[in-house]
Amino acid sequence: MEAHLLEWLNLSIRWVHMITGVAWIGASFYFVWLENNLNRVNPRDGLAGDLWAIHGGGIYHLEKYKLAPPSMPDNLHWFKWEAYFTWLSGVALMLVVYYLNPSLYLIAPGSDMAPAMAIAIGFGSMIAGYVAYHFLCDSALGKHPALLGAVLFILLIAAAYGFSTIFSGRAAYLHVGAIIGTIMVGNVFFTIMPAQRALVKAIEDNTTPDPALPAKGLLRSRHNNYFTLPVLFIMISNHFPSTYGSQYNWLILAGIAVMAVLVRHYFNTRHNSNKFAWTIPVAALGMICLAFVTGPSSTPAAAVAVVNSNAETFSQVNKVIQERCSTCHATKPTSPMFSAAPGGVMFDTAEQIRLLAPRIQAQAVATQTMPLGNLTQMTQAERDLIGAWISQGAKLN
Ligand code: HEC
Repeated sequence: MEAHLLEWLNLSIRWVHMITGVAWIGASFYFVWLENNLNRVNPRDGLAGDLWAIHGGGIYHLEKYKLAPPSMPDNLHWFKWEAYFTWLSGVALMLVVYYLNPSLYLIAPGSDMAPAMAIAIGFGSMIAGYVAYHFLCDSALGKHPALLGAVLFILLIAAAYGFSTIFSGRAAYLHVGAIIGTIMVGNVFFTIMPAQRALVKAIEDNTTPDPALPAKGLLRSRHNNYFTLPVLFIMISNHFPSTYGSQYNWLILAGIAVMAVLVRHYFNTRHNSNKFAWTIPVAALGMICLAFVTGPSSTPAAAVAVVNSNAETFSQVNKVIQERCSTCHATKPTSPMFSAAPGGVMFDTAEQIRLLAPRIQAQAVATQTMPLGNLTQMTQAERDLIGAWISQGAKLN
């Protein structure tokens, strides 16, 4: 029952996290697009530019003020709750998935790190990441955006590497995402919102607002914009064991992040020129290269030298799977952590195992993402045996 309730808690929080995240990132994309596409030729007095758009059967006319309108409108819409709720639901989800089950999801299989320590490192790194970022932006480095970007990138990949030595692959990825997400929401909470509040107050007090304020907010919101694509990849990454499950998972993440930022840059500049259009084919080529380099090395079939008949080999494979996998992956899991087979994956019958062979190969042979946390202590020889059976056609008899 407890496992079942946890599943529904996970579902509810994940759903909220996705909805608020879509709202937040959607608004971020929209406003960067709006800013880039304003018509700045001969704007009306006091305006920076305007834009006409058609959407959902209506025609809209948007105007951006250089600094402030002559008087404040009664209703000024602020964008912040989507950011705050994305972060809050993200932290709640981290708690439900990783921190309530540290030995299963968080800690690297085989590591003897204490769960409390791993949780402290995980949560602490989100806060530390934001603080480090904030000081870097305010330091002299803040005046050199490209250099600042490079330094941030190296620090984040260093964090990914560090996490990969103590956390499971998927937790390592998720924690890099959590650091970036915390930086993004920190930008909204500690920089963008205060700058906007000061701007609004100056307008209401009839004083001239400090033009540095919007500039500061704009810089941080640009950073957030470049963070979005890498973060979105990280949030879906745990569907892809060949990324986080690889020995070089931190390098793969670095490669994907570079491509994501390049593509974002093209979309952020293409209103001016198509100078960065090359980023799209380069990113596509990069994904193809990554697909190749992350491909499973040819299974060590020869090393296992299966001389038995297919039926005998399968009966050995079946024994391993029942012992190492079926506590979780059965119609009625015996593990108290699951009330239903996780991922809908069940190994009750020979036919189920045969049909699932490619996914078994991906999770337990090519990468070692299963058994989760290697709780059931599967050995390398057992992985090789399953690999050999699959490479010989996964035959039952
Ligand atoms: C301790 C419980 C546990 C054990 C033991 C375990 N798994 Fe899993 N498995 C899970 C969970 C939980 C998921 C769902 C993963 C997620 O949340 O994304 C999963 C997902 C899977 C998936 C589906 C992933 C996909 O989308 O393709 C496969 C395949 C799989 N496991 C294979 C195995 C194999 C093979 C073994 C034995 C070598 C094994 N598992 C042992 C818990 C376990």
